Amino acid sequence: MKALVVGLGSMGGKRMRILKEMGIETIGVDMREARRQQAWQQYGVRAFPDFEAALLEKPDLLLVCTWPHDHMRYVRRALEQGIHVFSEDTCMDDLDQLTEVIELARSKPHLVAAPSCTMRYHVCIQKIKEIIDSGVLGPRERSFATYHGGSYLPDWHTYEGLGDYYAGQRKTGGGCDMITFEFDWLCWLLGDVRKVSALARKNATYDADIFDTYQILAELEAGNILTATIDVVTRYANRYFRYVTEKGEIYWEINTHTVRLHTGDTDTWRIISEKPVSGPASSWSLFDIYRDEVRVFLEACQGKTKYPIGFDNDLRMCRLVQACEKSSEEGVFVSL
Ligand SMILES: NC(=O)c1ccc[n+]([C@@H]2O[C@H](COP(=O)([O-])OP(=O)(O)OC[C@H]3O[C@@H](n4cnc5c(N)ncnc54)[C@H](O)[C@@H]3O)[C@@H](O)[C@H]2O)c1
Repeated sequence: MKALVVGLGSMGGKRMRILKEMGIETIGVDMREARRQQAWQQYGVRAFPDFEAALLEKPDLLLVCTWPHDHMRYVRRALEQGIHVFSEDTCMDDLDQLTEVIELARSKPHLVAAPSCTMRYHVCIQKIKEIIDSGVLGPRERSFATYHGGSYLPDWHTYEGLGDYYAGQRKTGGGCDMITFEFDWLCWLLGDVRKVSALARKNATYDADIFDTYQILAELEAGNILTATIDVVTRYANRYFRYVTEKGEIYWEINTHTVRLHTGDTDTWRIISEKPVSGPASSWSLFDIYRDEVRVFLEACQGKTKYPIGFDNDLRMCRLVQACEKSSEEGVFVSL
């Protein structure tokens, strides 16, 4: 198998490293010369400035790691060329483009069209899903959940300014890409969003033309409720999730590597998953789940497994972002 990675920045670098570890021949594309040189120096990946020139090298699979608003033209080209394709988190306003890609992917069922769903590979999130689905806390419709996922945008890419990549602009996916990213796994656990009320704000003083804080109240398909604060203002990056029913509660904080379960009939919390990945907690990183995600994509390409989601999922997430911003602007609940 030969892989082509387009967009050789932060995520493209991680994907190249994983492909290299897995022994997959890899070539790359980036519009910036410095990134192409870096790909060669760090990973031995030969990179092109021009996507069409790279396609002439006949890759079997494409990984799209460009900015969140600009994945679909590459996904479409891959499907037209008969190439399996994986794409990073998409957050775009042109939903027609996304709909066309969904149609195209449907017409080519032999090809894998795989949007990223990174957090579904997190062991703690898998554990939480197992508990919710087991019914030990009762049915989902009798639950509510609260979530806060926060980080500080200037800490993301300390080697470049916010104006040098997508994160500094709403129109390229800045700020709102955290909604599509986080709601993928939240909806996987809790169900799809039926309607939302939201406030989207700019609170931070750093130089970015984005909403850096989204406060969202969502009703989900079973009638259950989620309140979520997703922001890029929080200095201590963390994720906190609570799921509550009258039978008990689940609490997860990503930085402690634990899921805690309280089943109502006891005074104690059961720690049911601690340090879920090997190595000391301090060395733990999201890298393990990136590796799992690429592995599942490759296995799907080899026909060994079915990739869990399609681009219709991305469409739902992008519609959710638009619904949140419409709700914020108009002061109303918006149905999806
Ligand atoms: N899965 C995850 O956990 C995760 C984490 C962070 C970001 N992301 C997503 O990954 C994607 C990339 O984010 P990033 O932080 O790596 O960005 P980045 O800016 O570090 O990398 C993007 C690269 O693409 C290049 N590029 C942009 N447009 C291009 C074009 N038209 N043609 C060729 N090259 C182009 C840029 O020069 C840059 O090198 C985004 O969609 C983001 O939302 C996913």
